Amino acid sequence: MAPRRLAIEALVRIEAEGAYANLVLADMLERSGLPERERAFVTTLVYGTTRMRRSCAWLVDRFLTDAPPPAARAALAVGAYQLAFLHTPAHAAVDATVSASPRRFRGLVNAVLRKVAGALPAADGWPDEPTRLSYPTWIVERLRTDLGEELALGALEVMNEPPPVHVRADGYVQDLASQWVAAAVGAREGDVVADLCAAPGGKATAMAAGGATVVAADVRWSRVTLLAGNVARLAAVDPAASAGRVVVVAADAAHPPFRNDSMDRVLVDAPCSGLGTLRRRPDARWRIEVDDVGRLAALQRTVVSDAAGLVRPGGVLVYSVCTLTGEETLDVDAHLAEVRPDFEPLEPPSGPWHPWGRGALLVPQAADTDGMFLLALRRRG
Ligand SMILES: C[S@@+](CC[C@H](N)C(=O)[O-])C[C@H]1O[C@@H](n2cnc3c(N)ncnc32)[C@H](O)[C@@H]1O
Repeated sequence: MAPRRLAIEALVRIEAEGAYANLVLADMLERSGLPERERAFVTTLVYGTTRMRRSCAWLVDRFLTDAPPPAARAALAVGAYQLAFLHTPAHAAVDATVSASPRRFRGLVNAVLRKVAGALPAADGWPDEPTRLSYPTWIVERLRTDLGEELALGALEVMNEPPPVHVRADGYVQDLASQWVAAAVGAREGDVVADLCAAPGGKATAMAAGGATVVAADVRWSRVTLLAGNVARLAAVDPAASAGRVVVVAADAAHPPFRNDSMDRVLVDAPCSGLGTLRRRPDARWRIEVDDVGRLAALQRTVVSDAAGLVRPGGVLVYSVCTLTGEETLDVDAHLAEVRPDFEPLEPPSGPWHPWGRGALLVPQAADTDGMFLLALRRRG
């Protein structure tokens, strides 16, 4: 099957049927029999069109009078994406997309894409920033308020590009921001470390590779299974991964089943709105809702203050989230400062990180990583 036709079918399932982009695409590519290069092109089209859904809809809606059926809408979007964002020459983008479209929509797709090709807006020709950058309005407004215009728009721009892939020495694929968080926990040989939100295990396995024993917990059973699988796989391929140990448990971080004062270090890599990792998950921006932020922030405050109780005197607590909202970063920090005045901040990382409350914020454009917040504290005594 032609790559563009596969992309149109995948987009119908993602947009009209609400399927997860990564799952649908992996499944369809697997069954397609396409060579590697064409698979990469399908991925570019599907992920790119999904990220730029709002921009592409605006580009084509100007030339439509009625809402087209899902397959025609997907064909128009993938055509508009090639024209506006891949800068494919008009004749190639239009002709190839028309022939990949279902036969009954070809006339419509051809007519509309020709008009789109002749009316691509300049950078200042879009109706507003959320449409130009292709995000829900609330995300753009929230980040503008919380980060300021420049950091917010820079972050949103970068998250429209596919992320670079970083592979650790043991073969595990992990973004640099996450590698830096794992390092910031400072786990040493012989330490007992609790990683309370551990699946799929990237940070837990990194910490164990340095010789610590890591108690890695997650609340969702499917995630615990994934975590246990990754731990076993890494231990098999790389003896360094077994320098310490990872003990996998299913547990709710809001009620951690461990003794108080028992851990040398505790990592809370909390569930969050994920607004720092939107380039990694192309459909995530269309799923997360404004109310999720407050609900997650409430969970983060509970989890991190309970987690503080597990840390032995002199031990270290690290809180991290892969998001950029003030509510999930500065406000959680302020809450913790209030309820646990017996914890003092450790020197936050510098370089691409910005000082942020008592911790540090990494915006994705600073070092081409995920966006991340990190707060490291030491318990007095
Ligand atoms: C940001 S991810 C963790 C990523 C992981 N630390 C890594 O580096 O690979 C957050 C995790 O928290 C888990 N989670 C959500 N609510 C939780 C809770 N109440 N207790 C424990 N884990 C929870 C989710 O299932 C998810 O796997």
